[in-house]
Amino acid sequence: MIVGILGGGQLSLMLAEAAKPLGISIVFIDPAPDACANRVARQILANYDDPAALEQLADLADVITYEFENVPSESVRILSRRLEVYPPSNALATSQDRLLEKNMFVELGIPVPAFKAIDSLDELREAVTKIGLPCVLKTRRFGYDGKGQAVIRSMDDVNAAWQSIGEAPAILEAFMPFEREISIIAVRDPEGNHRTYPLSENIHNNGILAQSYSRNDDPFFDQSCQYVSRLMDTLEYVGVLALELFQVGETLYANEFAPRVHNSGHWTIEGTSCSQFENHMRAVAGLPLGETEITGRSVMLNCIGAMPKVSGMQGLSGVTVHDYGKSPRDNRKVGHITLNAEDDDAVEELLAIVQRNIS
Ligand SMILES: Nc1ncnc2c1ncn2[C@@H]1O[C@H](COP(=O)(O)OP(=O)(O)O)[C@@H](O)[C@H]1O
Ligand SMILES: [Mg+2]
Repeated sequence: MIVGILGGGQLSLMLAEAAKPLGISIVFIDPAPDACANRVARQILANYDDPAALEQLADLADVITYEFENVPSESVRILSRRLEVYPPSNALATSQDRLLEKNMFVELGIPVPAFKAIDSLDELREAVTKIGLPCVLKTRRFGYDGKGQAVIRSMDDVNAAWQSIGEAPAILEAFMPFEREISIIAVRDPEGNHRTYPLSENIHNNGILAQSYSRNDDPFFDQSCQYVSRLMDTLEYVGVLALELFQVGETLYANEFAPRVHNSGHWTIEGTSCSQFENHMRAVAGLPLGETEITGRSVMLNCIGAMPKVSGMQGLSGVTVHDYGKSPRDNRKVGHITLNAEDDDAVEELLAIVQRNIS
């Protein structure tokens, strides 16, 4: 079986690594000659909307998936004429537009921060007075890792915020005073079977994920599970989906969902017997889904900008360093480190050792 992927970044790399023992090989399109998945998979070097490259991908592959949500919808349409594309196009279209995404959460009865669609500076001014301060302006499309966002703390920030997002169609959201940010990662197969991983608790710096902690037996698991199941069933979803939530008091508010494997689930590689990457491959290839239970506790630390010196921690039991082989660049995710131990105390101890080694 050959799975075709749009995108050849680290998610594609880890999908290809998980695919190998299943007897699945990967071919992917990526316009970057140094795309990091090319270490383990065959690359078609082309833009995502190159018709000849899309035909070549469809010739080679048995099924198609993607590793990021900003793939051109026209490319997905072209590929869908010849092969199944998973996750389905309605999930992709909804996650590409923050307004459609928020409206879907509302339709499904999932709480969201107060929000308003914004198409002009006047609408923005009026919405700020309605929603209140502080609030966050986000472009409807193409945002990731906190890009295309501006926090508005006073009326004086409004003009600069509007300009900073390029005056693009946007939504304004209430800024949530959350206790925790969590995500739930789940997988659904074409028959509608679900599996759900334990919650991840996530720490962001400047809108970029920095750390994820596995949270077994979290009191918010059942609620999160209901929300993600509702979303996946409505979308007739196939593959892995991540739902990001804010916990404020006893309420969970949906932030966004990603129709793909997610950075906050990287700990599932070492922390569970069947990682999010393997389960995504299983779902799109029509294989039975694997177990999602965690053995112990896991913490994932993102390496952002450049890889730290890891020689001091490489032999440590319970520490796994993933270097994506990407060249250093500000705010770029270039690798991650996973820590695994039997309980919270042991994983905290390991974390202290690793953090001493990093700094
Ligand atoms: N309404 C909000 N209230 C508080 N913090 C927010 C809000 N929206 C986003 N953030 C912060 O910014 C991060 C990135 O925003 P998000 O909407 O998830 O965009 P993306 O991950 O696509 O860049 C969130 O994980 C959260 O830490
Ligand atoms: Mg996010």
